[in-house]
Amino acid sequence: MSLLSILVGLLATAIPRVHAQTWTDCQPLNETCPPNPAFGTNYTWNFSSDSLLDDNWNITNGAVDYAKDGMMFSIQRKLDSPTIRSKFYIFFGRVEYHIQAAPGAGVISSAVLQSDDLDEIDWEWIGADEYSVQSNYFGKGEFDSSDGKIHNVTENLTKDYHNYTTWWDKDKLEWWYDGQLLRTLKYEDADGGKYYPQTPMTIRLGIWPAGDPSQPKGRIEWAGGEIDYTDGPYTMYVKQVKAEDFSSGKEYVYTDHSGSWESIEIVPGNSTTWENLYGEDDSLSQKWARLPQAAKVGVYAGGATVAAICIAALVFFCIRQRRIGRREFNIQNNKMMEERTEMMNLQAEWRTKGYVGGRT
Ligand SMILES: *[C@@H]1O[C@H](CO)[C@@H](O)[C@H](O)[C@H]1NC(C)=O
Ligand SMILES: *[C@@H]1O[C@H](CO)[C@@H](O)[C@H](O)[C@H]1NC(C)=O
Ligand SMILES: *[C@@H]1O[C@H](CO)[C@@H](O)[C@H](O)[C@H]1NC(C)=O
Repeated sequence: MSLLSILVGLLATAIPRVHAQTWTDCQPLNETCPPNPAFGTNYTWNFSSDSLLDDNWNITNGAVDYAKDGMMFSIQRKLDSPTIRSKFYIFFGRVEYHIQAAPGAGVISSAVLQSDDLDEIDWEWIGADEYSVQSNYFGKGEFDSSDGKIHNVTENLTKDYHNYTTWWDKDKLEWWYDGQLLRTLKYEDADGGKYYPQTPMTIRLGIWPAGDPSQPKGRIEWAGGEIDYTDGPYTMYVKQVKAEDFSSGKEYVYTDHSGSWESIEIVPGNSTTWENLYGEDDSLSQKWARLPQAAKVGVYAGGATVAAICIAALVFFCIRQRRIGRREFNIQNNKMMEERTEMMNLQAEWRTKGYVGGRT
């Protein structure tokens, strides 16, 4: 396995229903759910080879790789459908995606915001139509609430990166393409606001073979026909995601089952993602959380050797600190000892999880 290739879990056996998903971990319209971890800040992820997916994201299906200065989502075999999802939620915000869509009949590239009660704000690219992009939304998972629109453009969207920006506040939704406003949806235009997307959302990126022969006829037609796997791989590239949360807090909580934005409580504090990205007084586990996935794979695979290098790097850091001052050095030194212990705990944990083989 290449170091840069990240394989997580089992390969796809089912197609995730990006389009009007009807499944959710916990449905806040019916249940009392755990709080949504907030983003509460802004950040730009550049998915280049030296800055891979960090721990603020989950790979929810399949595997991703890196090419063309971006993250690669590829359909290589039947029913491949790599997807990633942010661990954090934004509660109104602005998300800028720099994407090169995948070509191919039956191939759908997608960049989606989705909440636990299944509000959704979509960008979708039908591989068969290289000169258009679709905008769509859903309210409360109601299939009938959706209103997909096709936007024709003059450039071939499968040949280069373009800037697709979603602006989402409580009054209106906007879809922007390379600085051009393609569409506006006002709150009241979504059935008087009932189906206006208005609950905290994660960011989801992925590709799926909606034109697989197993799919319903209508979906295959929408996807531009049946996919020809022998003509693949079909690949979407994502170079950059810039996200801004218009709310700031630690968590977002549904206080009732209405699914209205007024019912969402913002719990104050710094979010976990904020701590990961900007927190200063890092423990080793926070540093670990910030490490790109591929580096982690390296640590898992390299076991003792790589761990030793990590510790050496910390020692180097401490020596550098020495110049800053004796007192600070002592603090750092103590911290290093703590981190050493933490590293050993982590390693023990990996061993029990089977990441690290052999002795250390
Ligand atoms: C909520 O529960 C009711 C009754 O069990 C069910 O009919 C409905 O589909 C559920 N709604 C959602 C959004 O899950
Ligand atoms: C992407 O488009 C948005 C909306 O027009 C714009 O605000 C932003 O500056 C653009 N980003 C880049 C990198 O050009
Ligand atoms: C967030 O963390 C910073 C630095 O640790 C701290 O100064 C600030 O008070 C925290 N903010 C909240 C809302 O807890």
